[in-house]
Amino acid sequence: MKKAFKVMNELRSQNLLCDVTIVAEDMEIAAHRVVLAACSPYFHAMFTGEMSESRAKRIRIKEVDGWTLRILIDYIYTAEIQVTEENVQVLLPAAGLLQLQDVKRTCCEFLESQLHPVNCLGIRAFADMHACTDLLNKANTYAEQHFSDVVLSEEYLNLGVEQVCSLISSDKLTIASEEKVFEAVIAWVNHDKDVRQELMARLMEHVRLPLLSREYLVQRVEEEILVKNSSACKDYLIEAMKYHLLPTEQRALMKSTRTKLRTPASLPKLMMVVGGQAPKAIRSVECYDFKEERWHQVAELPSRRCRAGMVYMGGMVYAVGGFNGSLRVRTVDSYDPVKDQWTSVANMQDRRSTLGAAVLNGLLYAVGGFDGSTGLSSVEVYNLKTNEWFHVAPMNTRRSSVGVGVVGGKLYAVGGYDGASRQCLSSVECYDANTNEWSYVAEMSTRRSGAGVGVLNNLLYAVGGHDGPLVRKSVEVFNPVTCTWKQVADMNMCRRNAGVCAVNGLLYVVGGDDGSCNLSTVEYYNPTTDKWTVVSSCMSTGRSYAGVTVIDKPL
Ligand SMILES: *[C@@H]1O[C@H](CO)[C@@H](O)[C@H](O)[C@H]1NC(C)=O
Ligand SMILES: *[C@@H]1O[C@H](CO)[C@@H](O)[C@H](O)[C@H]1NC(C)=O
Ligand SMILES: *[C@@H]1O[C@H](CO)[C@@H](O)[C@H](O)[C@H]1NC(C)=O
Repeated sequence: MKKAFKVMNELRSQNLLCDVTIVAEDMEIAAHRVVLAACSPYFHAMFTGEMSESRAKRIRIKEVDGWTLRILIDYIYTAEIQVTEENVQVLLPAAGLLQLQDVKRTCCEFLESQLHPVNCLGIRAFADMHACTDLLNKANTYAEQHFSDVVLSEEYLNLGVEQVCSLISSDKLTIASEEKVFEAVIAWVNHDKDVRQELMARLMEHVRLPLLSREYLVQRVEEEILVKNSSACKDYLIEAMKYHLLPTEQRALMKSTRTKLRTPASLPKLMMVVGGQAPKAIRSVECYDFKEERWHQVAELPSRRCRAGMVYMGGMVYAVGGFNGSLRVRTVDSYDPVKDQWTSVANMQDRRSTLGAAVLNGLLYAVGGFDGSTGLSSVEVYNLKTNEWFHVAPMNTRRSSVGVGVVGGKLYAVGGYDGASRQCLSSVECYDANTNEWSYVAEMSTRRSGAGVGVLNNLLYAVGGHDGPLVRKSVEVFNPVTCTWKQVADMNMCRRNAGVCAVNGLLYVVGGDDGSCNLSTVEYYNPTTDKWTVVSSCMSTGRSYAGVTVIDKPL
């Protein structure tokens, strides 16, 4: 068949056996009716129908320009086409007209690959105009997921009021705070203030003011001249203030679309693995792309680091304390995934390696660890806004090689090693930030030091670890509601000092060592099937004591 079409194309170029000429603008293309009809339902209908065109020698196509027609007829004979930024906007409608569905699909896939905050609204409108449902949905989702960047674009500022309303009324907007939506409305109105200011009330209907902080409402919203100027907007402000005045349990009774939290679809994620021992402290950092199922290297740490605590907070990764190969450190490095760059922030007050790190109520907690001579019970907290560390209540027990996790608004410290009794610990304690108190909860069924701790579906997992020389593959899970531990399926490998993180409904365990080797393998636990599966793609190097966290994939 391939050969036959090759011959037909050669016949065409020599103008042999051609029985029709297709004309667009001043381009004339000789061709064979049967070939055109075989590939394009449009030509099929034309040549087999009752219309006079079915026998005409010359057919003029008005809706398509000459060059585009040539590309499409070449495609019919060769099944090859080059979609580019320059031609896609004319190719797609022309392919639609000739009903060349494969070309149309290729154009849509090309546009999808070009999606960016500066063009996604234009692509969305284009897809809508040409009935490309799949591309329309993809562009729409893209705009919702990158809302904060999209509203900075020219395309956004030039939208019509209906389109702005449709965008900001979506439940799926991914935004750090509702402030973004308010600011986006003000920016859009100010772009053509004289004409647009009377539209304020229509837009503000979709801004969920009750979800904003009191400070922001009073200092920003109420002071905004566009709000002051509209009595309907002031009503929305009153609604928001009423919401804040009501006791929490009565707020649920307010029947307003504006008190409902937005529920964004999750952004694509990367798993980031930072430093570790391989076999000495290293600087290398690599990321696993869940969608592409492969690893890639990113910017190295500024200095060697293993046994550090690792968290992702406010779009940045923090590598806290650890061991640099000769010293336990109090330094903290932070990583910006967008810039692919490390910088340092304020030092902790204490030196700590093998600590636990977690985020509770927007603050970064560094828990326990080892300072080079003793295990630590102390806990300190980092406030991103002030770039300062301060101590809170210490744990009841000294814990080095401790694992921590936040579930149900509380911070749990799991197992570890207590220098005093020289024993690995099965005990677990829990921190309540409201009372600044640690209290013991149910013990694990076994002693675990260097366990991987992670939270999935409101349950706290303790994975592997060791008791003396014995390295574990067993896993247990704590339910904070019933305050009980229960055993789940074993991992495929024994691991201690592995990294753990939860993503897409699965719990991943990364590297660690099995008592003799540092592991480059990753496995994940699926709570629905109670099974562990080894990921086929390994890290570039075996690492134990690496920091692991999940981040949003940068654009
Ligand atoms: C809004 O303020 C402008 C002056 O900035 C004024 O001319 C206009 O009448 C006001 N509109 C309303 C509805 O109060
Ligand atoms: C693995 O790392 C440990 C430290 O955790 C190191 O002592 C050991 O030599 C490493 N083993 C291998 C095989 O690299
Ligand atoms: C570890 O940190 C200390 C103190 O900052 C520094 O003097 C030392 O050179 C570092 N060691 C390595 C191997 O980077």
